[in-house]
Amino acid sequence: MDLGAKEHNELRQGEAYQPFNNDPNQYKKHFYIESYGCAMNFADSEVVAAILHDQGFGATKDLSKADLILLNTCSIREKAEQTIRKRLTEFRKFKVQKSGLLVGVLGCMAERLKSKLLEEEKLVDMVVGPDAYRSLPILIEEAETGQKAVNVLLSRDETYADIAPIRLDSNSVSAFVSIMRGCNNMCSFCVVPFTRGRERSRDAHSIVAESVDLFEKGYKEITLLGQNVDSYYWIDETNDHAITFAELLEKIALISPQLRVRFSTSHPKDITDEVLYTIAKYSNICNYIHLPVQSGNNRILQLMNRTYSREWYKAKVDRIREIIPDCGISTDIITGFCTETEEDHQDTVEIMKYSRYDYAYMYFYSERPGTLASKRFEDDVPEEEKKRRLTEIVDVQYQLSLKSNQNDVGKTFRILVDGESKKDTGFWKGRNDQNKVAVFEKKDHGIKVGDYVDVKINECTKGTLLGEFVKF
Ligand code: SAH
Ligand code: SF4
Ligand code: F3S
Repeated sequence: MDLGAKEHNELRQGEAYQPFNNDPNQYKKHFYIESYGCAMNFADSEVVAAILHDQGFGATKDLSKADLILLNTCSIREKAEQTIRKRLTEFRKFKVQKSGLLVGVLGCMAERLKSKLLEEEKLVDMVVGPDAYRSLPILIEEAETGQKAVNVLLSRDETYADIAPIRLDSNSVSAFVSIMRGCNNMCSFCVVPFTRGRERSRDAHSIVAESVDLFEKGYKEITLLGQNVDSYYWIDETNDHAITFAELLEKIALISPQLRVRFSTSHPKDITDEVLYTIAKYSNICNYIHLPVQSGNNRILQLMNRTYSREWYKAKVDRIREIIPDCGISTDIITGFCTETEEDHQDTVEIMKYSRYDYAYMYFYSERPGTLASKRFEDDVPEEEKKRRLTEIVDVQYQLSLKSNQNDVGKTFRILVDGESKKDTGFWKGRNDQNKVAVFEKKDHGIKVGDYVDVKINECTKGTLLGEFVKF
């Protein structure tokens, strides 16, 4: 689920958090954390920061100041794991320089490889799975005595609902709020059900409370996170009422019209009309849906165990456009899945054109050990062919994104300003409802980060709308 104001895939590059306290003397020890993978991992790192904070650990961006180095890892594709292994070797010099420095691997790779990771990567002291972060204080103590520390137990009920995450790298405008964990779908290519465990929904009251708190602190945009948000389901035992995703969305939208609400990811089989009508009803629920298709071919969809057909998916896209006419739609696509032929691949190209995606995250298939696909099907599409197909769909998407942006030239959008343009500090940057990035010249309007402004679009590239300030 690559996301919202911080696109989940933008985040997949790995990022170091900034210190949340500038007074280095306040903490007896410091940790450095880098996060990889989806937004859920980034959200988890903020839970980890809160747990460590209670133990007297402050965050640092400076590796040489760290007493504890943590990598919150991703296993989704082989390349993601290779990146982590490479990064770990780079920590060796810090280990040599500072005796007592601990290195911990958190997240999905920790869960997938368990204690094997300690054998494979000698410099790792701790291996901690996504449901075991509460045990970090004990594991750190163990590791400090020179033992290797591991906890990779998955849980059926852990949601960290009571832990207030510490926003580390925040722009103070947008924040992730985790609403559920795990995944009960068994897409045959996917490692997530094995690394994140069973699906469970977080207490709705705690989600609302966290969101209210963020809004009171000045945040303007919240992205509700889950691998499959549409299957959110939580029973309020005080009145026996079951809260669905549509109801949860509504509760967050009602906090304030000044608070934008986004969410990710929606599985096409689970997104309901009720959710679509809720989005249409509230202007502060963004008209943007990330709806991963994976493939446009029915035989491949079946092998992937996605549980929908191309016809069904197209009907869902039609329904979205009927209920929310200006809805932005993005997707995830995998090329070269087991047995995929050129003809099957062309069905993917066709469904992309049909769906007119504004944006797509595209990958070639990477077999993951332990998944259904790795057990049942041969990974038989040669790598060059997988990559050729990937290049083809990237080109198709390039055209679709450009066309979609060209259609916006001349329109005026409400933009939430989230920072300066990276390319030119004389420009502000923000996103519109449909999650498109817009930039416009600062001039002398007294605009600040976190302001909503109307921007008229004059030009575009495939990735950015370029406009001018109209009014607050
Ligand atoms: N829960 C989200 C997806 C999470 S993983 C959903 O159901 O849509 C993000 C994306 O990574 C997936 O949508 C898929 O496109 C891609 N992905 C997952 N496993 C992969 C694999 N083995 N090889 C290549 N891409 C993969
Ligand atoms: Fe993986 Fe499928 Fe679950 Fe998404 S819905 S996390 S692709 S198993
Ligand atoms: Fe996310 Fe990667 Fe784990 S995509 S759930 S961090 S395998």
